[in-house]
Formats: sequence, structure tokens, C-alpha cells
Amino acid sequence: MTGEVFISGAKNSALSIIAAALLTDKPVVLENVPDVMDVRTMVKLIEYLGSQIKFKGDILRIWTPKIRRHVAPYDIVRKMRASYYVLGSLLGREKKARVSLPGGCAIGPRPVDLHIKGFKALGTLVEIKNGYIHADAKQLAGSVINLQGAKGTSVGATINVLLAAVKAPGVTEINSSACEPEVVDVAGFLQSLGADITGAGTSTITIRGSAELTGTVYRIIPDRIEAGTFAIAAAITGSKIAIRNCNPFHLAAVIDKLREIGVRVDVSRERIVVTGKSRLHPVDVFVAPYPGFPTDMQAQIMALLSVIPGTSTIKETIFENRFMQAMELTRMGADIKIEGDTALIRGVKTLSGAYVMASDLRASASLILAALVAKGKTVVRRIYHLDRGYEKFEKKLRRLGAKIRREKE
Ligand code: EPU
Repeated sequence: MTGEVFISGAKNSALSIIAAALLTDKPVVLENVPDVMDVRTMVKLIEYLGSQIKFKGDILRIWTPKIRRHVAPYDIVRKMRASYYVLGSLLGREKKARVSLPGGCAIGPRPVDLHIKGFKALGTLVEIKNGYIHADAKQLAGSVINLQGAKGTSVGATINVLLAAVKAPGVTEINSSACEPEVVDVAGFLQSLGADITGAGTSTITIRGSAELTGTVYRIIPDRIEAGTFAIAAAITGSKIAIRNCNPFHLAAVIDKLREIGVRVDVSRERIVVTGKSRLHPVDVFVAPYPGFPTDMQAQIMALLSVIPGTSTIKETIFENRFMQAMELTRMGADIKIEGDTALIRGVKTLSGAYVMASDLRASASLILAALVAKGKTVVRRIYHLDRGYEKFEKKLRRLGAKIRREKE
């Protein structure tokens, strides 16, 4: 494989920013929106709530003169947890929201206690009835909120509380807020609507709530996880790939780890060039909130480590059940043992093609990366997981020279 690949807009930024667009009754234009299933689902949800939508290429136009419904139904939320971002927006704009509880998912239990704690602190009455979160406020009021959870910071809770807080009169201070680039992106979008927010990207975000928000034209940041996935594709196949339209700063932890492994990474302003090498070294990966090594890259780096001679480890501290790809990689010949939150990976010389099953989005990317170097044919089933978050993944890989095609399941 060789060549260049263009990275799409960040899925997780897009999801929260599309929900955030519900806060204003003025038109919003979003650029660099990835055309992936989860974005389509979020668009459907806000249409259901009252938005008028035009989605062409990577430009999404949203106008919500009036909120027509206050309910995010189970059928949508069960498909995509990020639907719960409409809770913060509806609460901010209408002081009222009904959102189905998302429940757990393939990567483990995913509670929403921190979201609820934040909404309550802003003066909301929150009740769980018939599987739905009912959130009602006579009036929101700024407050000091600590969002430190048992597993550390929460991207989702930070964003959800931020969405409601921009409409809460007074000053809100979110402590232990998540620092991920996607949080900074939502804050940037809200600022472009006229919201008064400082500190996004640090552990304290301060919001001065205001009633009026304008419209905007806003460009979504590049997807750091898609970029990281292609970096691993270069590393695992020993090829040279230029990854364009990405933000190297957002990839610092991944780039550091790849260099430690022995991969060459050249960085310029909006581009990284990754050159795989034949002699690579095992490493220990510690998954942690930003700026640590991202949990959303853990499955992909596991595929790479499974073919590097020596013993590597991965400690996953964020999600309890995010090693689902390990069993499938083992079916391809990898030697991986899981002990609690740690994976022990003994590199093998070669992987062999097999029928494997994707359990979630990042696991599906991991299996495809392994398949790129496995001897023989690999068939990855349940590929709909991939379509939730990667735009034209197999086309982009094919353009780089991979032998990959999509078949009907
Ligand atoms: N948590 C709580 N209570 C809460 C919320 C979270 O205990 O109220 C725990 C979670 O169970 C987890 C930890 O806190 O153990 C971190 O979860 P976080 O809330 O940060 O995750 P999220 O907002 O649900 C987003 C991304 C995930 C990504 C994580 C971590 C979106 C739509 N999803 O999820 O992306 O893994 O942050 O960075 O932004 C993916 O794209 O494949 C994906 C799963």
C-alpha cells in the first residue's frame, strides 16, 4: 500500500455539534461533516424534533425555528447513545426534555449519572420513568459542578452539561471537565453562536449563560481516530501513507507511541506521513483520557502489536469491556491474553485470514487492519458497525492499494 488519504470530519464532534444546533432558532451551516451512519441518525433525530435539514457533500444546513417535540424515542437512542446530547439542547432551549435511557452497549456498562448530576445542579428536576429520563426546569441557573466520575472525566457529560449551561442565566463552572478536542470543538461552535465560554480544553470550563444565540457557519475538526487508524494501516503493512487534512496536535499520543514502536512519523501543519519499518518493537500502552492514548485507538493498536515480535501490553482504563476484538484476532492466529483491564500480546510472525465478526465500531477497524497483513482471505462480518463511524473506509483503503471489497451480508 502507498499514497495519500484525506481524513473526514470528526464523527464525535459532528454528533454533539448537530445536537447543539438545536439551541438556536437561527440557521446553522456546518462544514466538514462526515457522511457516516451515526451522523445520519443524529440528523434524523433533530428533524424529528423540528429541524429543517439540507445535507449535501460535507455541508449540513440546519434550521430549527421551532422545537416541535421534546422526546428522543427509544428506537433512535438504542441505535446510537450520542442521541442523549439532545437532552442538554432541549433543556437549554425549552427547559424540558424526554430522552430514552441508553442502557449498556458492547463496550461495557455506560451510566449517565454524571449527566444527571450536572442537569440537577443547573436547577433541573430529573426523574427516570418508563425507561426515559424526564428533565424539567422552571428556570435554569448557573452553578458550580464537578463531573469527576469513578472512571475519570466524561466527554459526554461535559458536553451535555455545557449545552444546557449556555442558556442558564448566571455563571456555570464545570470542574473535572473532559479535555478532548471534541469538547473544544463544541465549545468553539457554541462561541460562534455567541455563547460566552472560557477554559474548554482544560479541566475547568466557565460559561456565562445568555438567552440569545445567533446563527453561524462552522467547520468541524478532522477525525483524529480515523487519522490514527490510517497511521496504523501504514505501520502494520510497512508502507508509506500521507495522511492529509488531519490535526497532528490531536494525535500526539498516537504519534509518540508509533515512534516508540519504531515507525517513522513526519509531521507538518495539516498532514502526517507515516512510514512503516520492518523492525518494530513491542510497547506498553496505557489508555487514558485526552491527552493520553485514546480508548478509541486501543483496538487498532492491538492489531499492530499482535504482529510485533516480543510482548506488549495494553491497559484499558476507560471502558470495562473493550477487548472484544481480541478473541477475533486470536482466531486469526494472534496470541492475546486478557487479565482484567490488561491485554498481554505476544507478537506472532504471521496472522492468517479467517471469518471474523465485528462487535463494535473500533473493533471492526482493528479486524480490517489485521486482515491487511493476514495470509489469505479474511471476511469481516457485521460491517455495519464500521459504517457508523468511518466514511468510505474500504474505498479509501482500496485507493491506497489494499485488496478489499464490500459484499452483501
Ligand atoms: N461514565 C460514568 N458516568 C457518566 C458518564 C460516563 O461513569 O455519567 C463513565 C463511562 O462509563 C466510561 C467513562 O466514564 O467508563 C468515560 O466515558 P465518556 O462519558 O467519556 O464516554 P462517552 O461520552 O459515552 C465518548 C465517545 C466514545 C469515546 C469516549 C471516550 C462520542 C459519541 N462517544 O463517549 O467514542 O470512546 O467518549 O473518549 O463522543 C467511538 O467513537 O467509537 C466511541 C465509543
